[in-house]
Amino acid sequence: MSERIKSLEAYHQEYERSVADPEGFWADKARQFQWQKPWDQVLQWNFRDPDVKWFLGGKLNITENCLDRHLETRGDQTAILWEPNETDEPGKSLTYRELHAEVCRFANVLKAHGIEKGDRVCLYMPMIPELAISVLACARIGAVHSVVFAGFSASALADRINDASAKAVLTSDGNFRGKKSIPVKSVVDEALQQCTSVSSCIVVQRTKDEVDWTPGRDFWWHEEREKVTADCAAETMDAEDMLFILYTSGSTGKPKGVVHTIGGYMVYTEYSFRNVFQYEDGDIYWCTADIGWITGHSYIIYGPLLAGATTMMFEGVPTYPDAGRFWQIVEKHRVNIFYTAPTAIRALQAFGEAYVEKYDLSSLKTLGSVGEPINKEAWEWYYEHIGKKKCPIVDTWWQTETGGIMISPLAGITPLKPTYATLPLPGVQPMLVDAEGKELTGNGVEGNLCIKFPWPSILRTTYGDHERCRQTYFSTYPDMYFTGDGCRRDEDGYYRILGRVDDVINVSGHRMGTAEVENAINEHPDVIESAVVGYPHEIKGQGIYAFVICEEDVTDEEKLRQEILGTVTKVIGPIAKPDKIQVVRGLPKTRSGKIMRRILRKVAEGDVSNLGDTSTLLDPGVVEDIKSGALSSA
Ligand code: WTA
Repeated sequence: MSERIKSLEAYHQEYERSVADPEGFWADKARQFQWQKPWDQVLQWNFRDPDVKWFLGGKLNITENCLDRHLETRGDQTAILWEPNETDEPGKSLTYRELHAEVCRFANVLKAHGIEKGDRVCLYMPMIPELAISVLACARIGAVHSVVFAGFSASALADRINDASAKAVLTSDGNFRGKKSIPVKSVVDEALQQCTSVSSCIVVQRTKDEVDWTPGRDFWWHEEREKVTADCAAETMDAEDMLFILYTSGSTGKPKGVVHTIGGYMVYTEYSFRNVFQYEDGDIYWCTADIGWITGHSYIIYGPLLAGATTMMFEGVPTYPDAGRFWQIVEKHRVNIFYTAPTAIRALQAFGEAYVEKYDLSSLKTLGSVGEPINKEAWEWYYEHIGKKKCPIVDTWWQTETGGIMISPLAGITPLKPTYATLPLPGVQPMLVDAEGKELTGNGVEGNLCIKFPWPSILRTTYGDHERCRQTYFSTYPDMYFTGDGCRRDEDGYYRILGRVDDVINVSGHRMGTAEVENAINEHPDVIESAVVGYPHEIKGQGIYAFVICEEDVTDEEKLRQEILGTVTKVIGPIAKPDKIQVVRGLPKTRSGKIMRRILRKVAEGDVSNLGDTSTLLDPGVVEDIKSGALSSA
């Protein structure tokens, strides 16, 4: 395994080299991997089209690097440690050798079902080992995986299957989550009524709940697995072949399929994993994210396995059987590195320290945070009560589109400052710009965060719609990747992420487009129009506040609210349910028909004293009405 950065001085040296000679820098990092054929050219790029390619002409298979490469040196080391939902159910662990065999076996199952290189496979599964095995099995044969978070509704799942024309769906009968057993297969069944591309649906038996069955289309995982061998040569892939699609929300209504390719993603996720967390051989690493999100892709599966780490997967939720579950697991498995989201920290903080103090957390060395800005109170609680003031917190800023961590302390190396993501990783060239796109130089500035040079795991396109990729990320400011985040660079040159500056809200670390939620609400037959904004929420970071105009004959507003929640759950899933729904007579619109969201945000925040200039509104009276009906921000 290659060296990691071990001092602040080494970080600065490595950073400088990465800017002075990015190609030489990344070529050095890439050489430790197994390439079936070396690359001819390290980088080709422009941010206008955009067109970014890394390691051109290189041939490889990422699973040879996650698995085969480790067999000789660490074949008997645990690769995946799995902790089930129930405390009394035995967990599972897979060594690198066992994981390799399972991946090869399931890769053969996919082949037997006619899945070929380049085909898309949709994964809709709970957090069970078979999910990680499926991801890697796709990569083994060169199929493109599209993991859909298993909390999405049938309709959201169908949209994603159809957008990618997936040929197979991999799922489970059900999902144990906390006290509940949630149906999974039936959601797939409903989705597949709207999909024509899918010929096979392979089902893991997990809950043993009864499921409907479509003969010829549906197959049990455990039966299929018996029909094949555990030998499967890795498909030869080009460095720029697609590895996966992951759908994420943006400013417009329709989620887009962010595309990552193989070579650059491999090099960057391994490098960032090793350096940010300072992973050492033998460490037990646990990231609590769901594999349905980018964090799970890059830092439960790929980054850790590429680095030969032991990575843990947890099936359940932080509050089951009680709010001490995370800490019980840390004690049980002697976890050394723990990576979670601020929303989980805030939720557990609210239960008090008694749940923490019951457990021995002395194994912890490093703590991580991801997905949303971490507030000072949560940072301090995490530092004091979980890390016992001896574990550095790495506040990692990045995005689905960036593939890997971009701005973050390196554990134990970068001096910390609460709520600051601190400094960019080597290879990352951030830049702050004002609204006109003028670069804000020097320190003590605040603006929109852009990146001015490609790093290996930058998104390559949005699936099936390259123009959308260009428009969303590369057109706001010419020749720059625009992140959608606001950011401050303080006097020390440290970066602090301030949150989204576009119409994206971040609810419990889940990205949601306001337009997407509005479209869902508008599906309710009594709704004429709606406008959704985020507001500060103590636990979730941001809550969803919906202003709704309805048909005049609606008299029972409470019933309407419940129905709207049902509609949103059906169209997107429970994660998109508004926290507050205010029925209004009209929305504050300019004469050109644009909703003035600034006003709605103020109302949602509970700050109606100063709404700013409302003179350009078509009907200023609407604002008075909205103010008087505002729901208290409890
Ligand atoms: C936000 C998650 C502050 C940010 C990896 C970004 C953060 C969006 C942080 C991406 C952080 C992520 N501090 N904000 N450490 N990490 N964000 O695509 O607004 O689900 O643009 O990727 O989350 O969310 P996504």
